Amino acid sequence: MELTVALTTTPATRAFTDRPVDDATVAAILEDARFAPSGGNRQGWRVVVLKDPKVRQALRDLYLPGWYDYLAMTTHGLTPFASTNDPVDEAAAVERAGDFAALGAANPGFAEQLDQVPVLLLVLADLSSLATVDRDLDRVGISGGASIYPFVWSILLGARSRGLGGVMTTMAVRAEAKVLKLVGAPAGTAVAAVVALGEPTEQVTRLRRSEVPDFTTIDRMDGEAFGIR
Ligand SMILES: Cc1cc2nc3c(=O)[nH]c(=O)nc-3n(C[C@H](O)[C@H](O)[C@H](O)COP(=O)(O)O)c2cc1C
Repeated sequence: MELTVALTTTPATRAFTDRPVDDATVAAILEDARFAPSGGNRQGWRVVVLKDPKVRQALRDLYLPGWYDYLAMTTHGLTPFASTNDPVDEAAAVERAGDFAALGAANPGFAEQLDQVPVLLLVLADLSSLATVDRDLDRVGISGGASIYPFVWSILLGARSRGLGGVMTTMAVRAEAKVLKLVGAPAGTAVAAVVALGEPTEQVTRLRRSEVPDFTTIDRMDGEAFGIR
C-alpha cells in the first residue's frame, strides 16, 4: 500500500472479525514499529502482549471507569480530561458516569468487550528513557509522550499494511498504578496506551479531519492561513 494512502485512510478500528491474528504477524508489526523515532533514540517503549483471559478481563475492568467518565464529560459538552477544564464542571459531569456504566452493561460495545479483541497490546514507557523537555513548565506535560506515540502509530500502520486494523486507547492510564501492578511493571514505568488489533469488520476509507488552512498559519499564530482548501 502506498504510504500516502495509508496515512490518509487509516481509521480507528474498534470492530473486529473473530479471525485470530497469529504471533508471527504481531511480531512482524512490532518489527516495523521498532523503527519509530524517539527523543535521543532512547526507544523507551515496552510492550506486553496480553494473552491470558484473566489479565485481559482485569485490564478491561480498569479501562471502563475512565471510559464512563469520558462519556459523561463528552455528553456534558467538555473535552474529556482537558487540563483546562473547570474542575467543578468536570466533577458535575462525572456524577453521571454511572448512567453510562448501566448503558454499557445493557448494550456492550468495544470498551465492555475489550478483553475479546484478537490482539491486545499494553504499551508502557520507561520514564528514565524519556526526554521530558517540558517537565519544568507550569502546565501538563506533553513532550514525553512524543517519544512513545509515534511507535504506537507505527504499530497501527504496520497492522494496516497487513490488512488489519486497530485503535490506540488511553483510558487505562486513569488506573495506571493498578495496570502496572497487573503486569508486574517496575517503578519508573508509565502506561502509555492499550492497543487493540484485528481484522476489521468493515473498511472505512473516509476520515473526518480539519483542512490544513484550519490549523496552519504563516509567521504568527494569528497570521494568514496557509495551505490548500
Ligand atoms: C492519544 C489517543 C488516545 C485515544 N484514546 C482512545 C480511547 O481511550 N478509547 C478509544 O476508543 N479510542 C481512543 N482513541 C482513538 C480516537 O478516538 C480516534 O483516533 C479518533 O476519534 C479518530 O478516529 P477515526 O480515525 O476513526 O476518524 C485515541 C486516539 C489517540 C490518538
